Amino acid sequence: MVNSSRGVSRRRFLLGAAGSAALASSGRVAQALPGADRASAAGESTVPAVGPHQAGIDTPLQAAAIFTAYTLAAGTTRLEISRLMQLWTDDISRLTRGQPALGDPVPELAAVPARLTATVGFGPGVFAAAGLQRARPSWLRPLPAFTGDQLEARWSDGDLLVQLCADDPVTLAHADQVLTSTASSFATVAWQQHGFQRARGMTPEGTVGRNLMGFVDGIVNPSPGTADFDSVVWNPGRPAWLKGGSCLIVRRIRMDLGRWSSLSTRQREEVFGRTAADGSPLSGGTPHDRPDLEARDANGLSAIPLFSHVRLAAPAQPGERLLRRPFNYDSGQTPNGPDAGLIFAAYCADPDRQYVAMQRRLADHDLLSSWVTAVGSAVFAVPPGFGQGGYLGESLLRS
Ligand code: HEM
Repeated sequence: MVNSSRGVSRRRFLLGAAGSAALASSGRVAQALPGADRASAAGESTVPAVGPHQAGIDTPLQAAAIFTAYTLAAGTTRLEISRLMQLWTDDISRLTRGQPALGDPVPELAAVPARLTATVGFGPGVFAAAGLQRARPSWLRPLPAFTGDQLEARWSDGDLLVQLCADDPVTLAHADQVLTSTASSFATVAWQQHGFQRARGMTPEGTVGRNLMGFVDGIVNPSPGTADFDSVVWNPGRPAWLKGGSCLIVRRIRMDLGRWSSLSTRQREEVFGRTAADGSPLSGGTPHDRPDLEARDANGLSAIPLFSHVRLAAPAQPGERLLRRPFNYDSGQTPNGPDAGLIFAAYCADPDRQYVAMQRRLADHDLLSSWVTAVGSAVFAVPPGFGQGGYLGESLLRS
């Protein structure tokens, strides 16, 4: 058990006899705040936390994200993990509606939900601690080593993961404070990564964002609400408890933006196989037209270069598809240049079938690898959503 007096006392407060009194008073706090922020339409927007799937997967990309991995305290039991999941479920249900959490350390900051979502994942450590190894999906282990990886422990692995996304950084920081405080008697932070897209309102709704290399990133993705999306993203029930859940892969990929800036626009386009202006395939058409991998240019060469990113990322097998939910990161300038890149976050039903071969192709042959390096890697099983009265991970933890 982690020795955090704040966490323990907050947990006692939440779980003890004071619980119902806390519930009532927390409601009063929310209503009584005279200077409470009045949210704009964008600030008031909410994404329901309840449903068959966790929110934050089929949700249109928000402006900012915090990915936090936690290490369970030694000796944590299945019961304690269930407790934490119940507490997080309660926190998430309130915060995503724009209400303070129970015993919220800073209730004033809860008033602007800004499409907040919280998506929880389980690393291998949950199954070991809970004595549930038989329920662990066979793919839930670190990804194999790929050519060029320079993985650092400070960005890799973890027992639990929370992906927080919102259109506002203050909302996000507050949700992180609440969830990390709730976790503090069960787990410590292993790593945290902050990512961003363009701020909401800066481009028309639905615009696909750009990465820090300047390219439109996220064009080819399954569309939520389609049978295609369902088959790419949601686990069909292998193992049974994970039905309606997913797998989240988080790779921290550093970009060498200094060297990238010395390339011409044409050279950059050949690396990706799409135009810099709007992301149209180099084979022609509009951004949403499929790249024609057979097309030739005037010289008879492949219009989409043989070692370009989109050619190598295109599925070599029918099921080799992902939902990409990437965020940029920029940790600032250093004496060695900018520390910036992409938090490549992707969801799929089964990474062994849908991800590993694609990543190997990219690592071995993609022109892009000359300017990007994976420095972090983690894989999580994302349990299905929860209904009213239910809690995160219930189908696993009650089994
Ligand atoms: C810093 C690293 C990366 C950057 C900057 C990047 C950027 C891009 C860009 C600009 C596109 C074209 C537009 C689009 O469809 O979104 C693209 C497509 C794609 N990328 Fe990446 N990507 C990176 C890493 C990865 C990784 C690690 C994977 C998976 C292992 C991946 C998988 C894909 C897929 C599946 C597509 C769509 C391919 C298709 O046309 O079918 N990318 N990426």
